[in-house]
Amino acid sequence: MTDAIVAEGLVKRYGSVVALDGLDLTVPEGTITGLLGPNGAGKTTAVRVFTTLLEADEGSARVAGLDVRKQADELRTKIGLSGQYAAVDDNLTGFENLDMVGRLYHLGRARSRERARELLARFDLEDAADRPVKGYSGGMRRRLDLAGALVAKPTVLFLDEPTTGLDPRSRLGMWDVIEELVKGGTTLLLTTQYLEEADRLADQIAVIDHGRVIAEGTADQLKDQVGGERLELSVATSAELSTAAGTLAGLAVGQIDADDRQNHLTVPVTGGSSVLMEAIRRLDAESVKVLDIGLRRPTLDDVFLALTGHVADDSAQGEQK
Ligand SMILES: Nc1ncnc2c1ncn2[C@@H]1O[C@H](COP(=O)(O)OP(=O)(O)OP(=O)(O)O)[C@@H](O)[C@H]1O
Ligand SMILES: [Mg+2]
Repeated sequence: MTDAIVAEGLVKRYGSVVALDGLDLTVPEGTITGLLGPNGAGKTTAVRVFTTLLEADEGSARVAGLDVRKQADELRTKIGLSGQYAAVDDNLTGFENLDMVGRLYHLGRARSRERARELLARFDLEDAADRPVKGYSGGMRRRLDLAGALVAKPTVLFLDEPTTGLDPRSRLGMWDVIEELVKGGTTLLLTTQYLEEADRLADQIAVIDHGRVIAEGTADQLKDQVGGERLELSVATSAELSTAAGTLAGLAVGQIDADDRQNHLTVPVTGGSSVLMEAIRRLDAESVKVLDIGLRRPTLDDVFLALTGHVADDSAQGEQK
């Protein structure tokens, strides 16, 4: 398999701010790679370098086999980009916006119009097609911007936070479109603040922080890195907490963590639901009154927290762009 994106040692500085600090990344052709990272990690900067909008100070990058610096013009015809902030012309209608993109890509008059109509239908914008974009809602703009990125059927597509500002239904719709595109052979680099989205869509995930990749792998590989399953339980009293800890010691595969302020116990385990049933049996035999008990697998949120020291920022949720 060839690689659609190969970046080596990318550095980008803004004055004293180092936005990219030796970023290495490889994205195999035909896959979805999720770029995750906290605000300011360098995700948008990386996307801008890959899409020739920004020149890195150091390092190199090839996209679709072309050097982003030396073959920028040719590369632009092979990629699509939907940026973090929708880039649509307010004074034009939805149709005119897409038609214009088609002309810019030299699709020709007839083909541009046809493609514009096709995409408007696909993104549920047919009814609004001939209205000026200034009257569109945030979600409609986002969809139009995404449609714009698809006009030229790009071989490599860059989506910077494609579903930020979309309602849950539109987000699901977007996921379908994305999955369909990738089935058709498009390679996708996606940045997102929604870990659930990366978990669902991405074949591989690169977590970046302070301008460099700090972890890479499939969602499962990353989850395994932060640790396996655990039992979480709450009891009413501290006496019961220590009884429970003693009772469950035999099931633990690592250090048991007891939080005596919350009367909460975290027990690392393996074995899935059978270990949960066994735990309940043992606690019952010791007459420990359990308020709450459950088996947890690490989520990507846990991964993110473990790696970057902060939780993923969902503050952009619902924001209209
Ligand atoms: N044009 C600019 N001028 C100065 N500093 C910039 C500029 N663009 C980005 N930066 C800085 O570079 C760093 C990386 O920014 P970038 O936009 O790439 O982060 P991001 O990961 O996309 O964040 P977010 O999740 O908020 O979109 C930040 O510290 C940011 O302040
Ligand atoms: Mg960004």
